[in-house]
Amino acid sequence: MSLKEVLVDELKDLYSAENQLVKALPKIVKACEDEELAESINQHLEETKGHVERLQRVFEQLGEKPTGKLCKGMEGLVEEGKEVIEQGEEAPFGDLMITGAASRVEHYEIAGYTSVIEIARGLGEDEIVDLLTETLEEEEAANEKLAAKAKELIGEAAEMSEDEDVETVSEEDEAGEASMTRKQTPHTSKTSPKKPSRGKSRAA
Ligand SMILES: [Fe+2]
Repeated sequence: MSLKEVLVDELKDLYSAENQLVKALPKIVKACEDEELAESINQHLEETKGHVERLQRVFEQLGEKPTGKLCKGMEGLVEEGKEVIEQGEEAPFGDLMITGAASRVEHYEIAGYTSVIEIARGLGEDEIVDLLTETLEEEEAANEKLAAKAKELIGEAAEMSEDEDVETVSEEDEAGEASMTRKQTPHTSKTSPKKPSRGKSRAA
């Protein structure tokens, strides 16, 4: 095996990953209740189409074909994203879960692009390094946006969870709360009021 073959193999994996995302992201956009989140994921969908095209250019430059590989990692991440959507939790919990699933996708892609960029650099393929770096930067920006949105949603979710702490233990029973959590009644809780609550367990 040669270094170039390793590069082509990893690029095929990314090509499959990006194509799976192009198919999966529209459903995720639809599932978002937060408009800003929907918009930023939709924007990343458009960028992702560009990532596919960029990879096609890289393959052309290498004189290779992008087909023949299925990225199982992305398949699993997309599957988890679908599970989050099917769970259909209300805002902000559902949206927060979507940011978690989407952030896993971005980290996975960032790892993939970081790897291929280093291999292309090792081969002295400067143009390919530049092309792939453009994509990497877009993945990183998308990830940062998701992190900022998650922070906002966590704030909302924590506030709602605090409100729910005022509710009675019997209501927690209704929610099927684990007995371990119920034992943490206010008089035994020495820490913050943000103890595990119904809201938080929904988001877990
Ligand atoms: Fe991408």
